[in-house]
Amino acid sequence: MSPVITPVISRQRIQEQVYDLATRINHDYDNQELVIIGVLKGVFIFLADLVRLLKMPVRIDFVHLSSYGQGSTSSGEVLVRKDVEISLKDQHVLIVEDIVDSGLTMAFLLQHLQTRRPESLKICCLIDKTERRTVSVPLDYVGFSIDQGFLVGYGLDYAEQHRHYPDICKIQL
Ligand code: HPA
Ligand code: MG
Repeated sequence: MSPVITPVISRQRIQEQVYDLATRINHDYDNQELVIIGVLKGVFIFLADLVRLLKMPVRIDFVHLSSYGQGSTSSGEVLVRKDVEISLKDQHVLIVEDIVDSGLTMAFLLQHLQTRRPESLKICCLIDKTERRTVSVPLDYVGFSIDQGFLVGYGLDYAEQHRHYPDICKIQL
């Protein structure tokens, strides 16, 4: 049987919110150079929409991380599959993530990037999913807060499927 998939955030609503985030980021960095670090893979659509609205000089790199264990068994151990390749020393760095869930991966990434001695390090996430947060992480820019459910679309997957949907949807697992 195919899963039940229901749109919960429309493409129009997403675009309004991305515009809002970009406006705040443009204002806060005030034309200072910015290094954007996208967290693969889920961020690819959000990042593409966001960066096209930024007005300061921007460089873009990606990390790809895997966490061991899922959900309640998540250990917080993280494998770096692809690391940042450009120097972050004395740079303003903004991590861009699709969804922050337990916070364990993001807490790891913060620590990992701090060792590169950036001038500043902030986080922008499209979705703050609060229900399973186990470590507190400072989210500087948040698109949407959602307390429940599993989301797909606009880059987000379930078992690598559904990333290409233009709307953010809830999937009944
Ligand atoms: N959807 C997709 N990926 C995720 C989610 C979600 O709701 N939570 C954590 N990773
Ligand atoms: Mg992600």
